[in-house]
Amino acid sequence: MSAERLRVDLAGRAYDIVVGAGVLAAAGREILKLKRGKRVFIVSDENVARHHLGTLTASLDAEGLSHHSAILPPGEASKSFGVLEQLTGQMLDANVERGDLVVALGGGVIGDLAGFAAGIVKRGLDYVQVPTTLLAQVDSSVGGKTAIDVPQGKNLIGLFHQPCLVLADTAVLDTLPVRELRAGYAEVLKYGLIGDAAFAAWVAGNAAAILGGSGPERTKAIVTSCGMKARVVEADERESGQRALLNLGHTFAHAIEACAGYSGKVLHGEAVAAGCCLAFDLSAQLQLAPAADAVRVREWFAQAGLPTSFADLPELGTSEDDLVEIMRQDKKASGGKLVFVLARGIGRAFVARDVDERAVRELLRRALTRTTAS
Ligand code: NAD
Ligand code: GLY
Repeated sequence: MSAERLRVDLAGRAYDIVVGAGVLAAAGREILKLKRGKRVFIVSDENVARHHLGTLTASLDAEGLSHHSAILPPGEASKSFGVLEQLTGQMLDANVERGDLVVALGGGVIGDLAGFAAGIVKRGLDYVQVPTTLLAQVDSSVGGKTAIDVPQGKNLIGLFHQPCLVLADTAVLDTLPVRELRAGYAEVLKYGLIGDAAFAAWVAGNAAAILGGSGPERTKAIVTSCGMKARVVEADERESGQRALLNLGHTFAHAIEACAGYSGKVLHGEAVAAGCCLAFDLSAQLQLAPAADAVRVREWFAQAGLPTSFADLPELGTSEDDLVEIMRQDKKASGGKLVFVLARGIGRAFVARDVDERAVRELLRRALTRTTAS
């Protein structure tokens, strides 16, 4: 196994992110180094378990670590109170103790749910993230946001609970459906659009290699993204300031996902791709960013087969009013004001806390009209 190691340097809770092909088979050795107890509680979903649970359990067995597993149904619906109740019940039935370690083996759904369960069972257990989607490897496994969804909205019940280790095996992405890979690619490109124009251009130029195999380009994309996220989390763990930059495209994306009913009709990363394009359109419309940058951003997402507008998304039956109403409920919104991450150009994102609703409506009207016309 050749791996790269990054550090998330949080006082008293620093942890490593290990990235490389074959990291999963070395999980037992990495977990042993943490010097916790000898028992591990694995949380995974049926798809991931079918492909990768055996490698993980073999590596734990090799180090003399005992393990229980809870294998949950795949999909966003598992981020619910019902499944949380079932999972925490299974953990208690297995007599998990404070010294035991929870291991989240899966995408963002499993990571968010298992991290939350770990945070509340017996007032808090340590946990390891073993992300198996590109989205989870570059975003959700790092930074300690854990949550479930409720009828009032997505991710509204949760905790900040940092993992004590992240193990990102780039080769496990070879079993991931290509649509899911593309959705993760949108988050990689997003990092460049936020703060590093050269990285954005490199990602766009290497899309085929990043999506096509566990070679050095994929590792570089993941390591660079994790490094950027780690620096942001170190500076603003609880999102009182610059962490909000990570939400470029997300005000639009969350509204799109809500209109799609979190149904899998639109994946989170697909909504982020369209959302980033709309955020650059809005930035150009407000004369903050060059119009040419908005055009380039749209080309980059389109080249990777990602949606860049409402016309590329399935019919959502949504209106300008629906979208604005949902945006008002965004977690970043404050005092009824619409908050967006906008950009002064590629790699130059900033948080705009008081965007004029009329400008947003004008943008949405144009974007939705183009859809109707096409
Ligand atoms: P996911 O966890 O639903 O995984 C996508 C699909 O791929 C599932 O069907 C899963 O079973 C399957 N899968 C996962 N890994 C696989 C593999 N290696 N091989 C084959 N199939 C595999 O989706 P996701 O995109 O990883 O995560 C989305 C979730 O992440 C959302 O709930 C979102 O809110 C959350 N999220 C959280 C954060 C955070 O900071 N905590 C950030 C971004 C997103
Ligand atoms: N995914 C955004 C964040 O972790 O803050």
